[in-house]
Order: sequence, then C-alpha cells, then structure tokens
Amino acid sequence: MCGIVGYIGQRKAYPILIKGLKRLEYRGYDSAGVALISDNQQLNVYKAKGKVTELEDFVTQKDISGTIGIAHTRWATHGEPCTANAHPHFSSSEKLALIHNGIIENYAVLKEKLQAKGYIFKSNTDTEVLVQLIEYIQETNHVSLLAAVQLALGEVVGAYAIAVLDKEHPDEIIAARKSSPLVVGVGQDEFFLASDATPIVEYTDKVVYLKDEEIAVIHRGKDLKVVNLSNVEMTAEIKKVELNLGQLEKGGYPHFMLKEIFEQPDCIRDCMRGRINIEADNVVLSAVIDNKDRLLQAKRFIIVACGTSWHAGLIGKHLIESFCRIPVEVEYASEFRYRDPVIDEHDVVIAISQSGETADTLAAVELAKSRGAFIYGICNAIGSSIPRATDTGSYIHVGPEIGVASTKAFTGQVTVLAMLALTLAKEKGTIDKAHYLDIVQELSHIPDKMKGLLELNDRIAELSKIFTYAHNFIYLGRGYSYPVALEGALKLKEISYIHAEGYPAAEMKHGPIALIDAEMPVVVIATQNGLYEKVLSNIQEIKARKGKVIALLTKGDTIISKIADYSIELPETLECLDPLITTVPLQLLAYHIAVCKGMDVDQPRNLAKSVTVE
Ligand code: F6R
Repeated sequence: MCGIVGYIGQRKAYPILIKGLKRLEYRGYDSAGVALISDNQQLNVYKAKGKVTELEDFVTQKDISGTIGIAHTRWATHGEPCTANAHPHFSSSEKLALIHNGIIENYAVLKEKLQAKGYIFKSNTDTEVLVQLIEYIQETNHVSLLAAVQLALGEVVGAYAIAVLDKEHPDEIIAARKSSPLVVGVGQDEFFLASDATPIVEYTDKVVYLKDEEIAVIHRGKDLKVVNLSNVEMTAEIKKVELNLGQLEKGGYPHFMLKEIFEQPDCIRDCMRGRINIEADNVVLSAVIDNKDRLLQAKRFIIVACGTSWHAGLIGKHLIESFCRIPVEVEYASEFRYRDPVIDEHDVVIAISQSGETADTLAAVELAKSRGAFIYGICNAIGSSIPRATDTGSYIHVGPEIGVASTKAFTGQVTVLAMLALTLAKEKGTIDKAHYLDIVQELSHIPDKMKGLLELNDRIAELSKIFTYAHNFIYLGRGYSYPVALEGALKLKEISYIHAEGYPAAEMKHGPIALIDAEMPVVVIATQNGLYEKVLSNIQEIKARKGKVIALLTKGDTIISKIADYSIELPETLECLDPLITTVPLQLLAYHIAVCKGMDVDQPRNLAKSVTVE
C-alpha cells in the first residue's frame, strides 16, 4: 500500500506534494513525510506519525522551499507506525532520500550485509535497506544515481515503487516500479509522480504508466526518459487521463463514503451506458462479443478477487451459472495463488478488482496466465495493473472510489457481471428469450429504483442510533442474498469495528443460532424472491430465541413486517438483480452506525484502499 508523490518543475513543490498526499491518503495514513531540496540546496526531510495534517502541523516554521521533492503516506508493513519508520528515508550520509511503496522481501539479508560494512539503521523498515544499498553502491562503484538504483534493484526481491532524490543532483528524480503502481505526469516544463493519477489530474492530463522494472529518469528541463534495469531505453507511451477533479472532492457530503453511496444511481447508469440498448432490448458487453469463441469454449470459469470484490464474484457465480450454464468457481486470490490450482488453457479466469492493483489478485492473474488460461478483468481504475495484465475485460466506470469501504464499486461490479452473463448467455443460447428481455428491462430501471432507495437514508440513520450499543451483528441471506449478507457484515465491521458475521440463513441451525439472544441484532435479507418462505422460517427461528430482527423486505410485505422488530421496505425487482437493491440500505446502515459511534468512516483504522502488498 502507501501512496507516493513527486514533483520537479518551476513551482513550489511542497503545496503540490501535500495536496497529492491528501488525494492518496486512502492508500494508507499511519504516517507521512516529505523530502525537498531547498532553494539553498539542502535536502530537508520532515516526517510525522498520523495523517497528512499532522505533517502539515509539524512543518510550520520549517524551510519548505524548493521546486523538487518527494512525499509519502504510509500503511505499515515492516515496523510500527512511528516517525522513525515514516518515509522518506535518508541514506547514512543524508545525501539521498527515498520513498517506497511495496515490500523488499530479502531486506534482512541485505541489511545484515550493509551492517557488516558499518551501515547504521535508524528504522525498522525494509525501505531503509534500499536507500542505504543505493548509497553503498554509489560510493563503492563510483557510479551515477541511476546506475546505483539499477544495480540495487537488481539485488532486490519483492515489490517496489520508489522515488529517490540526491542532494548533489538537485535537478533529477529517479523513480522505478515493480508490482507496485507508479504514474508519471508530464506537464509543461514540469513532471509529477504518483501512485495513481489522482494527484496529477489537476495539473496535466498526460501520463505515462511505468511498467514493471522500468525506471523513469526525470530531469528538470529535459524530456522524460524511461530505461530498464539493464539501461535499455524503453518507449514512454503518453496516455490521456479522463478523470474529472469534481469526482475527487466530497461535493458537500460529510464523507466520501456517503457521497459514493449516493452516486450509485448515476454510476450504474454510466456503467450500463452504451452497453444496454433498451429500444433494441439488448445488452452487449463488447469484450464478451470480441472474445466470444474463447469464452464459449471454456469448460469452466474461475473468479479470483479479494474482499468486497470477492463478494461480487459470488453473485457473478450465480448469474453466470444460471444464465450460461457454465460452472463457476469463486476463489480468494490470496488462496488461489499459493495452492497450485488445477487450471489450464480450457479455463477462463475473471479477475475482479476495484483498484486494479490488489497484489494477490494480480498474482493470481499472472499464475493463471502462465498456465494458459484466458483472463478477463473487471476493474474500476483505468490503466491500473490488473487490466493491463489481462487478455480482455470491462471497466465498471463508476469513477474514483475514495472512501476505504467499497460501495459503488461493488454495485458496479455486480452490474458488469450481470451484463457479462447476459451477453454470453445470448450468444450461447442458454437463456429463455422472455427471461432475457425481462432482465434487460429491469436492469435499465435499477438506477431509478436505487434513487428511490436513497430516500430511506433518514429512516436508516434513525434506526442506526438504536444499534450503537451492539457488540455483535449477524447478517443472513439465501441465494443471491447470501453474498449481500457477507458484504453487509464486512461494511459494518470495517467502519464501525462492530464484530459482524454474514451467514447463509439456513446454516444458522448448524451452529451460529447458539449466539442468538435478546442482545443480538440480526439483519435478514427477506425480499419476496426465491426462497422467501424458507427465509420466513429462519426469521421465526431467530424470534423464538428473542433475537432482534431487522428485515429488508419487499414493499407491501405484511407478513414479515409483523414479525420483524424493524423493517426496511425495498422496491420490487427480479431475483437475479436483488443484490443491486438490497446492498444499498446495508451500506447506509453501516455508514450511520459508524457515524453514530464517532468513527473515521473514510479512513478506518488499520485499513487502506489499495492493498498492493500480499
Ligand atoms: C472492503 C474493501 C476491500 C476490497 C479488497 C479488494 O470495503 O474495499 O475488501 O474490496 O481489498 O480490493 P480491490 O477490489 O481493489 O481489488
């Protein structure tokens, strides 16, 4: 994780770096730091534990001059969050400063080697080893900073996105990446550097996404040069980013998470734009059509993802199996990559990732690719690593998601999975025409239904006040609603720190029902679809044990509304699209409970938005 930013040009670097760090805080926020080569050629490094604002407080009265600098916001991997472990890290002579996102796996061996040569370490991080190693190589081999970085990276095992400043070369930043993202923004006589394009878009829309083992040599007043570890010059392909600044601001909402929940009707419309043609009653996901022979040959699909994206994958399994009659397995990417899975060229792997940078998902993609499988990506962040590593794919087009708890990306992923399953089923001839038409029509109504759902916000905010006392929550659902129960529970635990479990409702009697008492809130997704009668029985079982039932039910349901302690009424939809409706009130419930408890909703403790370490 961690976010890195850099600037070199004619403007003051510090304000650009701080603003950039704030945009990247979603990647980690346990400490922050900045290194600047000042107007009088000093290399100043300032660091503070906590969020970027703590760093701002710390630097008041300090020399923050300079038109070149690098900065970092950290999510700890090696070494506790503290000032000493914050980046940038100095080399021993304090001539070099380096920031790093990733993990140096062989840091212990390298550290020992450097300690034997008299190097003293001030932190417990893996990163400090790298900056010391670069300085050691510079000094012993008498080579340039670029050559020293190339040699040092040749010795490193692991993942990195780094940027290095050398006090003796105040017009140059050397930056490199492997398995951690790094983007160079190309402006007029200035360059920007960041973990993603969000800190850059306000200055330039021209970016270069560095590839693995590429090094950017960024020199004031010269063109950008990209080389590899062996110093072969690579093509720096300039791409245009289409991010709009408004998408990166809170727009009047108290939190990004609430803004992103409320954006969902528009996001889902954007996600379907040009893909659903309602006049022609048709859904076309072009990546499916372009690769239909390959997809139709598949003996099986394997979905790999983590966290919320994995929950979307479980819904994808239902959709693809039921419409296309192709068996689908859903795997945690972190388990899949390490268990020598049985997979070959007859398989199609669908990798789902909002950030497109999740290290485990990316590794699962690489593994599946190496075994000949065809890889289809479903991602949000355009140009990120996973879409670049896949054979084809579909973006969800929901715009940047800043709140750490994923909301609009989940509904976007489910929408794309529904469109994928429909497009493929039509090609395969496995879906009944009338059913297909019903689903297409209903999909087009989802944004309006979601808009209606958002009117429940005040009622859910009221309801939330009742549950701030709770230490535990259970979420139940069946069929398409089971992954929604998992997702509802995950949302609650990550932002309110209340322990919550999602379960398939019928599993209760196999153990978890022992937990039910008058103190236990149980959220049941009980819409009038699929297994309604069975869910009704499950609710009776909970009530018989005095559990407090919060039921999500279909408007007009007079049966469950009488049994449940609290009801949230939802518009009717088709069973296969139910998750797009039932998820929204659960997002609001988690949000309001966390707000009532006074939690930091957008940046919950211990979490980061983009998990680029395994
Ligand atoms: C939960 C959440 C995480 C992510 C997971 C995968 O709200 O955001 O569980 O879903 O870290 O991230 P992506 O989708 O970026 O691969």
